[in-house]
Amino acid sequence: MAKFSALILITVVRLAMALPAYESLVGRSASEINEYIAREGIAEIPNPPLPLVDGSIKLVNNPSHPFIPAGPDDIRGPCPALNTLASHGYLPRNGIARPDQIVTAVMEGLNLGNDFAKFLAYQAFLMNGNPFTNLMSIGMKTPETGEDPPLPAQVGGLSQHGTFEGDTSMTRLDAFFGDQAAFNEDLFQGFIATSAEYGFNGTYDINAAAELRYQRLQDSILTNPELVFNSPRIISAYSEAVFPTIFFVDGRLNNRQLTMDAARHFFDFQMMPADFHRQPAPVNFTMVDPLTKAIFDKHPFSPGSNQGVNNFVLQPETPPLADFCGIYHDIALRVVPDQYPNPTGYLREALNKNLGFLFDAVNTEHNCIQAFPYGSD
Ligand code: HEM
Repeated sequence: MAKFSALILITVVRLAMALPAYESLVGRSASEINEYIAREGIAEIPNPPLPLVDGSIKLVNNPSHPFIPAGPDDIRGPCPALNTLASHGYLPRNGIARPDQIVTAVMEGLNLGNDFAKFLAYQAFLMNGNPFTNLMSIGMKTPETGEDPPLPAQVGGLSQHGTFEGDTSMTRLDAFFGDQAAFNEDLFQGFIATSAEYGFNGTYDINAAAELRYQRLQDSILTNPELVFNSPRIISAYSEAVFPTIFFVDGRLNNRQLTMDAARHFFDFQMMPADFHRQPAPVNFTMVDPLTKAIFDKHPFSPGSNQGVNNFVLQPETPPLADFCGIYHDIALRVVPDQYPNPTGYLREALNKNLGFLFDAVNTEHNCIQAFPYGSD
């Protein structure tokens, strides 16, 4: 918490230096600062947080991060991890956050490695956040992120279907069938049944993850006429299948076997189990990539989309799961420019900054060539 507060303080000081009016924000909560920025319209963009100084195991369901259920005005969305982090105060409890706050929260609260955290947070921000105010909703679209940039920008929040959020989720319906962001008990019963059948001692482990991921895709192919399962959705779908076997397991045990009780806490209650400890060391691409490859290898697929029920048409022009840099390029050169075709002035500057942060995240471990949709100056 001390680190989180220090970060907010540094940000406030930076803002105060940029605009004297911000001085009055010193001592305000993270949500109050975000609300102020949303009203003002334009924000300074802080650099991404550095890796944790102390990335060791730690009690994270602790007295300075008590669980408080989301209130009626607090936003929650499709990600069980971010929902939980907001309900424990690692993120602003109202569910509106800057991408750097998300990076800090997932590092501090769950011990996600710095690069992976930045990859997820800046990718999501570029698809779902507001580049003017540097704010993003972790759920539905809201005016609380400030005034939108011009269309076709969506600033839809993480629940916006067809961006980061996509089909075949484990505990959420496909958007075609209903609320794509809400926890769904029937699907969770499927999660339990698959874990009982394939996981060690009924836990959600890597074998259960491989089968559930496969089943969810097959089910959507058979039932959802509007199923889309291509880049960049495929990479989040596969990492999200693996993540619970790592990050939702208490770091003291760290056996990659998630009990149904802990799964219920995170997915449904948006709450860390009592006495929960984070991973014993930061978990980065080097650890997650082989696991996503392992579940892919059990049931390989090619990206595509349904043209009507049970008619999955392959899209060989889009990068497959194994082509990480291809997916990064797809995000930077197609997905982002689809929403921001010709940005100018501050908007272009903000997008370029965030694209730079995204590249930094993929550069260390994946060696991709940097993509410049808006020029490199
Ligand atoms: C770092 C920033 C993160 C962002 C921006 C993010 C965003 C998202 C989004 C947009 C979804 C919805 C995708 C979909 O199923 O349609 C999602 C799902 C999910 N996220 Fe996160 N996430 C982040 C970190 C994490 C972490 C650290 C975990 C660790 C366990 C995690 C676990 C999951 C899981 C398990 C799902 C799938 C839910 C389901 O399929 O039912 N996420 N996330």
